[in-house]
Amino acid sequence: MLMRLDKFLSDGLEISRQDAKKLLGKGQVTVDGAVVKKGDIKVKDDTVVTVSGRKVEYKEFVYIMLNKPVGVVSATDDKNDVTVVDLVKKDYPKRNLFPAGRLDKTSTGFVLLTDDGVFAHDILAPKKHVSKEYTVTLYAPINDEIIEKFNSGVTLADGTLLKSAVLQATDNPLVVKVILKQGVYHQIKRMFGVFDIGVNGLHRTHIGTVALDDSLAGGDYRELTAEELEKIYSQSGAN
Ligand code: URA
Repeated sequence: MLMRLDKFLSDGLEISRQDAKKLLGKGQVTVDGAVVKKGDIKVKDDTVVTVSGRKVEYKEFVYIMLNKPVGVVSATDDKNDVTVVDLVKKDYPKRNLFPAGRLDKTSTGFVLLTDDGVFAHDILAPKKHVSKEYTVTLYAPINDEIIEKFNSGVTLADGTLLKSAVLQATDNPLVVKVILKQGVYHQIKRMFGVFDIGVNGLHRTHIGTVALDDSLAGGDYRELTAEELEKIYSQSGAN
């Protein structure tokens, strides 16, 4: 992809075009080893561009793994609450980030933030079957009948018939694992509600086969590695 050098610098360094022009004017920018002072020359996303001797990595899009804490809403902006985008914004001031999929305000765990609309569409489309895995803390234990119902497809109180889901017991009778392949509003809470079991806590641990990095405390984030992105893409069947 060909683009102007000042765009490459502003996207790669998360700075304004104005600041990119200043760097150029000061002679701090090289392209393939030669100092370049004009922003309108065309470069490719893999052209070697340096600023003060340091290579600039151009990224068309970013993909961020966030460990959402309780109390933060899965939205881009909100009048009353802190949003998942607010948590990362200072590092990505120029990106139009949004959450690819939602977690309730009271839920915690893996939220993927991106500015790549096509990717978000691909991983969210019900046909693509990118699974989401949760650790769920309940107010009452499950039994084999509920596991079987999850497997065959729960019918919610409003009549919605859900797809097959995985429900697994753990060593703790009040902690279970749930794997979903769709994302209906408040899905897990409503699924357990059918069996009169309240949900006390809900933590998303995986998107596709990618696990939430356990070194990320609540509110922490990092970019996905190329391998992680590829794993999610390959499950979505998008490539
Ligand atoms: N299901 C829920 O009920 N809440 C979530 O946050 C995610 C899945």
